[in-house]
Amino acid sequence: MIAFHRVSLEYPRTGTKALYNVSLEVKKGEFVFVVGHSGAGKSTLLALVHRRLIPTQGAVYFAGQNLKALRGDQVAYHRRRIGMVFQDHRLLADMTVEENLAFVLQVQGVPRKEWPERIATALRRVGLAHKKRAFPEELSVGEAQRVALARALLLDPPVILADEPTGNLDPENALQVLDILKAAHQRGATVVVATHSRELLEAYPARVVALKAGQVVRDERPGEGGSIRVREGPDRGGKEGA
Ligand SMILES: Nc1ncnc2c1ncn2[C@@H]1O[C@H](COP(=O)(O)OP(=O)(O)OP(=O)(O)O)[C@@H](O)[C@H]1O
Ligand SMILES: [Mg+2]
Repeated sequence: MIAFHRVSLEYPRTGTKALYNVSLEVKKGEFVFVVGHSGAGKSTLLALVHRRLIPTQGAVYFAGQNLKALRGDQVAYHRRRIGMVFQDHRLLADMTVEENLAFVLQVQGVPRKEWPERIATALRRVGLAHKKRAFPEELSVGEAQRVALARALLLDPPVILADEPTGNLDPENALQVLDILKAAHQRGATVVVATHSRELLEAYPARVVALKAGQVVRDERPGEGGSIRVREGPDRGGKEGA
């Protein structure tokens, strides 16, 4: 579903090398946690899949397609296949919960007669049907984050990318968010979650990819009993420790 082939990413303005020679494959229907210290490259990795960034070297493939080749409309079409959740919910402040969701449907050209059913389903999934007329500032942080999830799940995208979706939440709310992501996974979605939270990792046994200074240093699947398996690209450049 998602493949990184020896991807390096350097931010042009600062020259920061955020990812270095990352090779990684995420299969359809997988659930993957991406972990690593602040600055390790987690958000950068997700941004490459969302095609907000293009690799400096190497290639990112999505459903077999090199994302670099996408033009104009194709980028919008690509993003429609992805439900993206950010740490800060990024809801529109001057719209109610319901209007925030309707806005997405309008932008995506979904026929108006389908809106009520879609919005109701999305809010039911996150347990917030009763908040549809609230404005974002009238929600708790956890509720706002669940609305952001409802928005990401609105079109049942095959892939969900969540960047620290529980960063500002207490453990109980964090686990609620995880439950929503688990449910989407169980409906068949491919889910990638960047997180610092050990609690999340413990709450759902899934594959864990660890980044350190822009490189994959660990890639473990559940049942591998803590064995360390580094999956490296065929790097012969000898830049260990870079
Ligand atoms: N827009 C940008 N321009 C320049 N450098 C950036 C930009 N965004 C991130 N970086 C740098 O790239 C590196 C990786 O950042 P990234 O945001 O991917 O890390 P992260 O693992 O998501 O960290 P965190 O856990 O703090 O969210 C860091 O050194 C960061 O300073
Ligand atoms: Mg980040």
